[in-house]
Amino acid sequence: MIEFKNIKKSFGDKVVLNDVSHTVETGKCNLIIGTSGSGKTVLQKCLVGLFEPDSGQIIYDGVDFTDMDEDGRKNLRQQIGMLFQGSALFDSMTVEQNVMFPLDMFSKMNNAEKKERVNEVLKKVNLVDAHKKFPAEISGGMKKRVGIARAIVLNPKYLFCDEPNSGLDPQTSMLIDKLIHQITKEFNMTTVINTHDMNSVMEIGENILYMYEGQKEWVGNNEEIIFSKSEKLNNFIFASKFLQDAKDMRMLEAKGIIADDRNMDEMLKNGNEIK
Ligand SMILES: Nc1ncnc2c1ncn2[C@@H]1O[C@H](COP(=O)(O)OP(=O)(O)OP(=O)(O)O)[C@@H](O)[C@H]1O
Ligand SMILES: [Mg+2]
Repeated sequence: MIEFKNIKKSFGDKVVLNDVSHTVETGKCNLIIGTSGSGKTVLQKCLVGLFEPDSGQIIYDGVDFTDMDEDGRKNLRQQIGMLFQGSALFDSMTVEQNVMFPLDMFSKMNNAEKKERVNEVLKKVNLVDAHKKFPAEISGGMKKRVGIARAIVLNPKYLFCDEPNSGLDPQTSMLIDKLIHQITKEFNMTTVINTHDMNSVMEIGENILYMYEGQKEWVGNNEEIIFSKSEKLNNFIFASKFLQDAKDMRMLEAKGIIADDRNMDEMLKNGNEIK
């Protein structure tokens, strides 16, 4: 569990995070959603210590990160895995070398042990034939998988993913989401995912924080989001007519109004006019 309290962050006179408080839960996919520029990446970078918040507290399982000395932070950072926006692989290293990098930096394993661990995590992300390939030689979806493998190679307690689906087709996106979800459950990790992907929200949104212009606007899960009364959130999530219709259908379904086929037929005849 990570609690963050009253996080503020500005760059010059631009306020990017304005008093954001929230709790992300262990063993869950915790989503941070919001339009481009709403502060998701800055928030995630504050949480992992890549940015220093101007004020506020970040508490990792009861331990205040903002209060820690450099040694304490170093220790904690080794329990954090990160998948950066755009994967951020080293172009001059093979897949295997990319995934081994954190082991080279932080573990005391010998070469054979490191290779075994790399094989293990590459298998976990369903990449068994790409060890010797360079990032330029693999697809976007494969790059994300390598990024995930690298993020989990040190067996982290906390996993941060910034836009794991950006640039992927909907089907591949869903596979990446399922993979992150599965890893989160299997290792009981506290996973924080920045996204503006609607499929992710609906598929894996167990605890969702919606950010609007640097502020917390709404918190809930993928069931509750259908019923949210926040106009800003609705405009963001159900931006198209198609999604608005899907939301309306789900609401009617939940109320039992379209449980029976005759009502459904009637509605379809009326062009889905929902009142
Ligand atoms: N290092 C920085 N220096 C100055 N301003 C910054 C810096 N990093 C981010 N910002 C500003 O902070 C705001 C929030 O940026 P952030 O990258 O967190 O948005 P985001 O929600 O992650 O957007 P996206 O969905 O496009 O990734 C933006 O206005 C951005 O210009
Ligand atoms: Mg971002």
